[in-house]
Amino acid sequence: MKVCWELFNSIEMGTDGSVYVCCEQRVSKFSLGNIFRDKFEDIWNCEKLIKMREAALQGKYPYCNHGICEKLSRGGGRKRNELFTNVLPSYKPVMSSFPTHVALPIARDCNAKCIFCRDKIITSEKEQIKSFNNKFNNIYLPIMKNVNIFTVNDMGDAFGSKFSRQVIENTIKRYPQIKFKIMTNGICASEKFIKKLDLENRIIELAISINATTAKTHYKIFRVRGWKLLLKNLEYLSQLNKIGEIPYLHFKFVVCSKNWKEMAKFVKFASKYGANADFWEVRNYYAVKNKYEDLAVHNETHKDFDAFVKLLANPIFDEKHVTLSPLLMKLRKKAISEKEA
Ligand SMILES: C[S@@+](CC[C@H](N)C(=O)[O-])C[C@H]1O[C@@H](n2cnc3c(N)ncnc32)[C@H](O)[C@@H]1O
Repeated sequence: MKVCWELFNSIEMGTDGSVYVCCEQRVSKFSLGNIFRDKFEDIWNCEKLIKMREAALQGKYPYCNHGICEKLSRGGGRKRNELFTNVLPSYKPVMSSFPTHVALPIARDCNAKCIFCRDKIITSEKEQIKSFNNKFNNIYLPIMKNVNIFTVNDMGDAFGSKFSRQVIENTIKRYPQIKFKIMTNGICASEKFIKKLDLENRIIELAISINATTAKTHYKIFRVRGWKLLLKNLEYLSQLNKIGEIPYLHFKFVVCSKNWKEMAKFVKFASKYGANADFWEVRNYYAVKNKYEDLAVHNETHKDFDAFVKLLANPIFDEKHVTLSPLLMKLRKKAISEKEA
C-alpha cells in the first residue's frame, strides 16, 4: 500500500494565512484554516484533513485535483508507485506529531520579472519585512519544531532576494539540522551565496526555472540579463549534484509562445548538467493578465498550436529524466496517435 506522504507530513501557507497540505491548485484551492486566526493544532487535525487522510489510507483521493497533481496523473509517464511512499505506522487520520515539511510564503522579492509572473522587479518595503519577521518569529517558527524540510520560495526568489536569504540564515540558526527544497531562477544561486548561507550540505532538492536554451530566449522570458551568470552557477550546482550534495536537481521550463521551439533542445541541455527536465504550460494566473492569449501556445486557439502539438510527438520526451505536466502529456498522446494514423 502506497500513499501520498504530504497528507501526513506537509503544510503549505499562503500570504493571507491560508493553510494547505500541498500546492493550493492541487487540492482545488480549498484551505484547511487560517494560521493568523486558528490554532495550528486545530488546522493540522481539522475535519477536512482527517477525511482526506482516511480516504488516502484506502487508496482514494476524492478531494484532490487529479488534472494538476503530477502524482495522481502519473506525470511524465512515471509510475504512480514511484511518487507515493509506504504507509508508516504513524500515519493515522488524526496525526499526533507536527508536520515534518513546511512551505512558507516569504515574499515576492525577486531579481527578475518573468513575462508570465510580473512586470517589474519587486522589493519589499521595510514595513512588509518587519511584519513578516514578526509572523516568522511568533507564528511560523513555533510550528516548525518538528520540521526537517523547509521549502523556499514559491513566490519570490530564495537567492535573488536579500530578504529570503536572511530568512534562510535565521531558520538555520534556530534549527541547525534543517534541510531545504528550493525553487529559484538560479541567476544568483552562486557558489558565494551557497557557501555564505551554509547551504552546501542542506539542499535536498533544487528546482531551477530556466525556460530557455539561449541567452536571447532567456532574456525574452526573464527580462533581465542573467544567462552568463546562470551558466556559471549551473556548472557549480551540477558538481554538487554529482557528489550527492544536491540529490535532486530539476531544470524547469514553463512552455509558452516565446520558448516552445526550444523544448527538445532543453531536454539535452538538462541532461548535460545531469538534471531532470520538467515541463509545464503557462497558466492563467492573475499576473499574466492580457498576455495570456498570446503566450498560451497549448491552447487550441493559438496560431502555433498545431505545430506545437506536432513537436510533442518527438521521442526525446520519452527520456527518463523528462517530466511533462498532465496537460502536456495529454497533448503528446494526441500528437503520437495523429502521427500513427
Ligand atoms: C513564481 S516563481 C518563484 C520561484 C523562483 N523565483 C523561480 O523563478 O523559480 C515559481 C515558479 O512559477 C512559475 N510561474 C510563474 N508564473 C507562472 C505562470 N503564469 N504559469 C506557469 N508557471 C508560472 C515560474 O516559472 C517558476 O518556475
